Amino acid sequence: MISKVLANHTNAYQFSIAPMMDCTDKHFRVLMRQISSKALLYSEMVVAKALHHSKYPNKFLDFNEIEHPIALQLGGDDPHLLAKATQLAEAWGYDEINLNVGCPSPKVSSGNFGACLMGQPEKVTRCIEAMSNATSLPITIKHRLGIDNLDTDELLTTFVDQISKAGAKRFIIHARKAWLKGLDPKQNRTIPPLQYERVIKLKNNRPNLIIELNGGLDTPEKCLEALKTCDGAMVGRAAYSHPLRWQTIDEQIFGESPKSIKASDVLIGMLPYINDHLQKGGRLWNISKHLLQLVEGVPGARLWRKELSSLSQKQDANIRIIENAAKKLQKAEL
Ligand SMILES: Cc1cc2nc3c(=O)[nH]c(=O)nc-3n(C[C@H](O)[C@H](O)[C@H](O)COP(=O)(O)O)c2cc1C
Repeated sequence: MISKVLANHTNAYQFSIAPMMDCTDKHFRVLMRQISSKALLYSEMVVAKALHHSKYPNKFLDFNEIEHPIALQLGGDDPHLLAKATQLAEAWGYDEINLNVGCPSPKVSSGNFGACLMGQPEKVTRCIEAMSNATSLPITIKHRLGIDNLDTDELLTTFVDQISKAGAKRFIIHARKAWLKGLDPKQNRTIPPLQYERVIKLKNNRPNLIIELNGGLDTPEKCLEALKTCDGAMVGRAAYSHPLRWQTIDEQIFGESPKSIKASDVLIGMLPYINDHLQKGGRLWNISKHLLQLVEGVPGARLWRKELSSLSQKQDANIRIIENAAKKLQKAEL
């Protein structure tokens, strides 16, 4: 069974916004929702153990209704804690739960989760089984092509077969292997080169599995190309750095009517949300930091970004800063 919301968005995974720590928080997701009403949005990774010990789960789990369809990404290697986190996430209203088996950071590896789990398929199997048994929501996995010297097509296929049997409904593959020894996480996002052909080969060999491509998809056209061979396209950095670039996605991928969205429309659309955040004691900068990338190719964009950044970081920063920023943009966009 799938959640009520995903039932209305059964193909939302055809285009998704990747989980990114410090980027894809609820504020950025609300921003992306102004641009695409269809994309599947992923949370930042939430560590199951941290969630379990926290007195304030809402700090990790809160989202706004308009963010649906939304997936929570979990990190961890303890089946019991992951199952508990899954149940909590289902009760909170998420549409999908994803397990992170792709993050190469030493901190994550030292907790024995993220990409290092690709070397422990038995453990991942137990985690996915426990999560699947704990919920009726789809359990999905985001992983790499391989890690270090465990990097053959045979190992990848065995991994995916095993995890599919354990209950994973979809596979999001960052199409490059992770070097856990010798490269830092930033290097691991560009080195070694992407190998889309290996993901495509896997999809051809396992046509019944839902396999999504991630890594280096930085234009809607590249995503459309990916969808010719894979079931979904997931975009990370290019969505964060160029949010407006993705405004054609609803039309090109999901067959919606064409629309034209300006940066000022996004700002104006977000005013009630920003107001609500401020009324609850939130800081304007929490949201404004994500708005800076919205404005490109408009006269005075640099100055606009500089002004928004410095005004929003002041202690008494209020909604008028965004209202004025939107007015200035409207003039520049004419
Ligand atoms: C700042 C940053 C944070 C990230 N955090 C996560 C994360 O929490 N979980 C995860 O699975 N991947 C994470 N990633 C990896 C992305 O989800 C994605 O797989 C990677 O950036 C490749 O896609 P792209 O080329 O479209 O950016 C992160 C990437 C970046 C740049």
